[in-house]
Amino acid sequence: MGVPHFKLMQLLALLSLFSISSASGEKGYNSKLIGSEAVTEKDDAQTLYASAGFLKCKSDKLVEPVSTQEISELLQKLNADGRPFKVRATRRGRHTPNRFACAGKGGSAKSPTGENFEVTNVDDTTYSVTILLHLMNRVVAVDHGRHRLTVEAGMTMQNLADAAVSNGMSVPVGVLPVYGNLTVGGVISTSAHGTGAGVDSTLGDIVVGLKWVNGKGDVITSEVDDEKGVQEVRALVGGLGALGIITEVTFQLLPAGALTQIETWEREDSNFAADVKHQLQTSTPHILYFWRPDLGAYKAFHFKPLKTGDVPIHPYHPNGRNAIFMASPKEAAMAVNAHMRDYTLDFDDSGPKSDVLNAQGCALSAAFMNIPAFHDGDIILQNATIPSSYAMIAEECAPYCSWDLSYFGATGEDNEFTIKLSDIDDFVKDVKSVIKAEEEERQKVLDRRYGDGKVKLCLNPGMFWFRFGKGSKSLLATTAGHGEPVLYVTSAFFASGYATHLPPKIDHINEVLEQLALCKYKARPHYGKNFDRAFTHPSCHLRDTFPEENIVKLLNLRDEHDPRKVFESELLKRMLERHGPVYGDKCSLHHQCYCREDSHCADGYKCLPSVSYPEYKD
Ligand SMILES: Cc1cc2nc3c(=O)[nH]c(=O)nc-3n(C[C@H](O)[C@H](O)[C@H](O)COP(=O)(O)OP(=O)(O)OC[C@H]3O[C@@H](n4cnc5c(N)ncnc54)[C@H](O)[C@@H]3O)c2cc1C
Ligand SMILES: *[C@@H]1O[C@H](CO)[C@@H](O)[C@H](O)[C@H]1NC(C)=O
Ligand SMILES: *[C@@H]1O[C@H](CO)[C@@H](O)[C@H](O)[C@H]1NC(C)=O
Repeated sequence: MGVPHFKLMQLLALLSLFSISSASGEKGYNSKLIGSEAVTEKDDAQTLYASAGFLKCKSDKLVEPVSTQEISELLQKLNADGRPFKVRATRRGRHTPNRFACAGKGGSAKSPTGENFEVTNVDDTTYSVTILLHLMNRVVAVDHGRHRLTVEAGMTMQNLADAAVSNGMSVPVGVLPVYGNLTVGGVISTSAHGTGAGVDSTLGDIVVGLKWVNGKGDVITSEVDDEKGVQEVRALVGGLGALGIITEVTFQLLPAGALTQIETWEREDSNFAADVKHQLQTSTPHILYFWRPDLGAYKAFHFKPLKTGDVPIHPYHPNGRNAIFMASPKEAAMAVNAHMRDYTLDFDDSGPKSDVLNAQGCALSAAFMNIPAFHDGDIILQNATIPSSYAMIAEECAPYCSWDLSYFGATGEDNEFTIKLSDIDDFVKDVKSVIKAEEEERQKVLDRRYGDGKVKLCLNPGMFWFRFGKGSKSLLATTAGHGEPVLYVTSAFFASGYATHLPPKIDHINEVLEQLALCKYKARPHYGKNFDRAFTHPSCHLRDTFPEENIVKLLNLRDEHDPRKVFESELLKRMLERHGPVYGDKCSLHHQCYCREDSHCADGYKCLPSVSYPEYKD
């Protein structure tokens, strides 16, 4: 675990270096640039930076408890002290890029130090405490008879899969998110997911019990077998920690030895939506798609769990693992860093090397699409049979992950929306036409400059991810209230950490697609992926996408368990009370708002109606 597979790594390095070997821009073109605050600064006694986002949270105190009891005593003491306080649980290297996780001040870390704005969640008299849960990562109980495992909430996905296997159980395929370093508490609280249309597809789906500490410091055990317990579990799964801090979780797992056949399918995308529906029906509900509309292609990873007695048709690799997030060698990181910076700086395609940069961008995009998704040591697996427990989560890449700003100089910016699967045809059409319309002007600039069709423009390196889920009874989960399967669409594209005074070139497209998703498709953004702007749209209020009775139930439970609202982050309050965003200088550049006036944009940019959907500005 965590040990890089050198041969495979070298192959990937070659792949990326070959594609972008001429990545150096003009000498001196941007040598004065300094990295954003998120690149240059490190966590200190009061500040936490998100590892995959330009976000920092400041609080008066960071604590690192080792037990439920300790958290309970902390809450009791804070209550007894009498002064106002706020508490949020999270972890170092936390992956949320929004302020749900911030107990005290939250703000952007996008620009170099001193140029970022902060949002004060609390007034100066309020004491803010951030609880870091990494020491709470133990196995608490093992129920061999019922294949149940109880673990502490700070445990990572990778450690959970390992603990399941070493205790003679398997994790069902589809329920784990891909990144092995996410935590049980974070994943459950944000309703983070794997993939499975209409079937179990999030860790929350296999929760049978929770231990948690409420705002008064009471320790509560909730089990899905009784009526009170099931109500509490539904409030906590996908509940953004609004009732309390989850400290232990019991999962319903499978017997040892569960296997999954994995298959890699590559296709052109002219019938993408129809293909998706067909494949879900005829192959497996557990599919992950990588889609590049501009390259006209998609790649599908099919996960087919084997039932006892099924004979696998693909070779068995007991050490087969998911490899989507490969650790990257330094040379590749530096090349991507330089490319992303120069490509972003060439914002209007008028620089000395726009042709080279666009060609590199297309090559790099293709290289990312070609990264193998599964491996067994040095062997790349396309079609194979591997243990279910490791089919979905990718092995640890830290500290060489492709989204780690301080290593890559760039990061993946994710924006995810949950919509109804039955909307897939319209949505795919919208994505294609928005991209076409929004990029037309840029393509014309390149055509005029270099000759018609000479330089092809590509989206930033990255891809759209399509995954699937089922409706749920959890009150605030992104799947809440849906009676049919859902589609999770993630726009996951790279952004430079060294040209942050400019928006990523994909951002105007994202802004239109996000507003379209929120307003036309009544979509729900991912609590652990999206930026503040998606939760605070000025007119398409997220709260209104939930059944009102869910909100009423949640608020009633909160009155009981957190009457002083000590767990309520400022962003949650905005979302529940239908407030718009925090408008301010360059709020759009910092992903806090969708612009309303020019001052919300980066210097030199105007807030204009978008080409494709004029009602949405970008
Ligand atoms: C590389 C990468 C890959 C990812 N892949 C996926 C994926 O495949 N599928 C997917 O759905 N998501 C994915 N995510 C997003 C991820 O699920 C979220 O970022 C999520 O926030 C989990 O991250 P975390 O464990 O670091 O929790 P944090 O970011 O620390 O916490 C998330 C939220 O939950 C709250 N919280 C945390 N712990 C507790 C607790 N014990 N009790 C109460 N509240 C708590 C926090 O305050 C915060 O608001 C990915 C993220 C990255 C960086
Ligand atoms: C997970 O992330 C944390 C924080 O970035 C890091 O300290 C830790 O080493 C990672 N875990 C593993 C297993 O690499
Ligand atoms: C994997 O299996 C699928 C389905 O059987 C097939 O379509 C595909 O071509 C196979 N891929 C490889 C690389 O063998």
